[in-house]
Amino acid sequence: MTPNIHEVTAEIEQDRPRVAPGILSRAERTRLAERAFLGLYRWYTERSQTLRNWSPDRDIEWRSARRDPSPEVVAILQGFFAVEQYTPDYVGQIMKLVRPSHGRSQYLLRWGAEEEKHSDLWRNALLFTRARSREWLEEYMGSLRNSEWTVGWEDPLRMLFYQIIQERATQVNYLNFGLLVKGETVTDGDVTRPNPHHDPVLQHAARTIAIDEGAHYDFFLETARVFLYYFPVESLEALADVLKHFAMPAMDIIPDYDRFGEAIYRTAIYGPREYSKDVVQVALGKLGIEGRKALENGVRLSRQVPEADGRMRDTALFGSLDYGYIEDAVTRLFTRIHRYEAKYGLDQVAPTEFVRTCPPLGPDRA
Ligand SMILES: [Fe+2]
Ligand SMILES: [Fe+2]
Repeated sequence: MTPNIHEVTAEIEQDRPRVAPGILSRAERTRLAERAFLGLYRWYTERSQTLRNWSPDRDIEWRSARRDPSPEVVAILQGFFAVEQYTPDYVGQIMKLVRPSHGRSQYLLRWGAEEEKHSDLWRNALLFTRARSREWLEEYMGSLRNSEWTVGWEDPLRMLFYQIIQERATQVNYLNFGLLVKGETVTDGDVTRPNPHHDPVLQHAARTIAIDEGAHYDFFLETARVFLYYFPVESLEALADVLKHFAMPAMDIIPDYDRFGEAIYRTAIYGPREYSKDVVQVALGKLGIEGRKALENGVRLSRQVPEADGRMRDTALFGSLDYGYIEDAVTRLFTRIHRYEAKYGLDQVAPTEFVRTCPPLGPDRA
């Protein structure tokens, strides 16, 4: 039977090479990535305003909070508050790096506005649980603000990967804190005993913030996938570098960080195990990378070969990246942006279009 025109078209489409007719120039890839960041930022902002426009004062039943929090809960609340209250430093410092990027710098302001609410929320938690007085907090805030948080990376790409790990780590902290304060009893094997940390108000607070942190994590993941798609070599190198040196923000300048670190470790909220399993492994999976070992081996075994434009690139690095996964994820992102732009007619004026680039040809893909 002769195939009809639709079948022929579908077959041609299926066989179409997944390679753009020419390698996009660096300037072109930068322009395309920047457009994606702006489109993503606009989509994110609308969603954030519609779905997560919560108030740290009015949306939590603070009057019902327990007034006898456990010593562990007090240490944890105080640590959460301390880390989140450096938001002005985070925004100020990171802005210097990302200000040339329209989408990334606009997003940083939005991100800062959301992070600022987290510090207000934990301040409320300390006050309403009667864990700390206003006077105590004023003094504590003064001691925290004596030190300024400084950016760990001068490179905006490294900073992006740092933010992915940091947001995921923060989300894991809040999710696990939510579990700590959840339920009136805890069961240990056959033994059931009262949960000394139980507080539904704090559970609600932790869940509210964890949703924000998840949205931040997703935004940075999407941004990183665009970089991985258009600039795979630089991105993989940046990620490997960040993983080698990662530490939670401000832990070196918060005077009593050890007490906080010990409390989250003892209560199984966060420690080396959670960092490795629930943060790094999960984040790498979302970036199409098999695991930290594969990435490190790629960096270690990489062999430099000259590219068409004279740049040297590391071939073995590509073995650690599932480029097809990244391409699918980036395609979905552009589709989502396009749908959003169609809602208000931007698609007719200045649409954010997806332009494929040439997939990298590592030794096992050539
Ligand atoms: Fe936060
Ligand atoms: Fe966050």
